[in-house]
Amino acid sequence: MENLADAPMRAALASAAGGFDEACTEFIRVPSKADRPAAVIRGVTAGYSAHELAPWGVPLGAQIMGSEVRLMAAAARRLALELGAPRVDLNCGCPANSVTGNGAGSTLLKTPDRMQALVAALVEAVEGAAPVSVKMRSGFDDTSLFEDALLAAQAGGAAFVTLHPRTKRQAYAGGADWSLVARAKALLDIPVIGNGDVVDAATARKLLELTGCDGIMVGRGAISDPLVFHRIRASFAADQAAAAERRRQERQGQQQGQGQGGGGGGLGWERDVWPDEAEAVCSFLERYASTGPDGRYETAAAYSDQARPGRLKKALKYLFSGSPKLRAACGPLLRAQVADVSGGQLLARAQELVREHWRQGGPEDPVLVNHMSLKGASTVPGGAAAMVAAYGERQWQPLGTAAGAGAGAGAAGGAAAAAADAAPAAAAAPASVAPALVQAA
Ligand SMILES: Cc1cc2nc3c(=O)[nH]c(=O)nc-3n(C[C@H](O)[C@H](O)[C@H](O)COP(=O)(O)O)c2cc1C
Repeated sequence: MENLADAPMRAALASAAGGFDEACTEFIRVPSKADRPAAVIRGVTAGYSAHELAPWGVPLGAQIMGSEVRLMAAAARRLALELGAPRVDLNCGCPANSVTGNGAGSTLLKTPDRMQALVAALVEAVEGAAPVSVKMRSGFDDTSLFEDALLAAQAGGAAFVTLHPRTKRQAYAGGADWSLVARAKALLDIPVIGNGDVVDAATARKLLELTGCDGIMVGRGAISDPLVFHRIRASFAADQAAAAERRRQERQGQQQGQGQGGGGGGLGWERDVWPDEAEAVCSFLERYASTGPDGRYETAAAYSDQARPGRLKKALKYLFSGSPKLRAACGPLLRAQVADVSGGQLLARAQELVREHWRQGGPEDPVLVNHMSLKGASTVPGGAAAMVAAYGERQWQPLGTAAGAGAGAGAAGGAAAAAADAAPAAAAAPASVAPALVQAA
């Protein structure tokens, strides 16, 4: 995420808690004109390091955004063939007017044929060295070209698509429409990664259950709860343990379902995910404050670099958004003038607040900060719990499951069945594509 999930944030998330299979850079902007193309492409890709998250074993894909086919292809080529990017992602989602005015980002959704040609050019440029994927919204003004855009990505040779199911016009307003993820999954042969409004294990499970998507990407939810990936993993691990136990019992000829502990749930499991969550969140903050834009970790930097307080305040706004106590306590901290407070002071005070108020088990009131206004306005009235309830009421059946095929189970029962299937299915995806079960945006 531009200006947010940058190198310091990625390192902080990976080092403090980890739990994600892969990450992708914020967009690398490729210009639409260049007098000296080779030098320009070297310049715009200079900040990318494929090994940035190697200490934590996390591959880092590179996202590019632009519309000029030759320059975009040159950027993809440089990233994949010279810099070793394990994946090149095409941004077809950025809603910023400065971007869409140049025909890039979400504007590509208006012209699926151009999008297809661009994807095909990137695929050709990387010569098989890395998969090319597409990150997209559900449309520009509306969803009338949604399916055309999905099919364009696939026909162009994308290895998978990641879908944030809001239109450009919606920006971050309203809830992400997960029914569109289900539609994408039904339409495409390539894997679909679902994204949008995942804030905890419950919402991750719901997204998988309702859509059958092949993986999940988490953006803002990871900044408001740096342990979210672990919570999601723990929840699915509980399912897998329960499934293994069921198989063991079946082998022993016992009746299915007898004597299971924690089967099909996991929603209480994540409570124990980390023995001292506040300390993990403090390390996350320390790492973030002490890591430079180049990804280098220097503890003294938190105390010397004048740019740190501003950046830290932005991250704190997300981090503290999910807890009424932290929100109330951090007001003076966020209002402090950057000139009056050093990064070190801000960090120390934020850590004190976290130690005092962080709730073991995760934020009680997950709020998705509106990217455009940076106000703590929830996109989900009532928070994630309300969203899960609302989706439950729609009575969708998960795709590709016995329940979804009409076994007659209610939505809740069908969803639970799909959840148990979903994780192994994602994990068993073809190695050549390797969509991550859990991605950091
Ligand atoms: C501050 C911010 C910056 C973002 N920058 C990018 C970006 O560079 N590339 C991209 O594909 N999406 C970007 N996004 C969109 C996110 O990747 C994601 O699709 C969106 O926030 C919805 O997912 P979430 O609810 O998990 O945050 C950005 C979002 C935010 C809030």
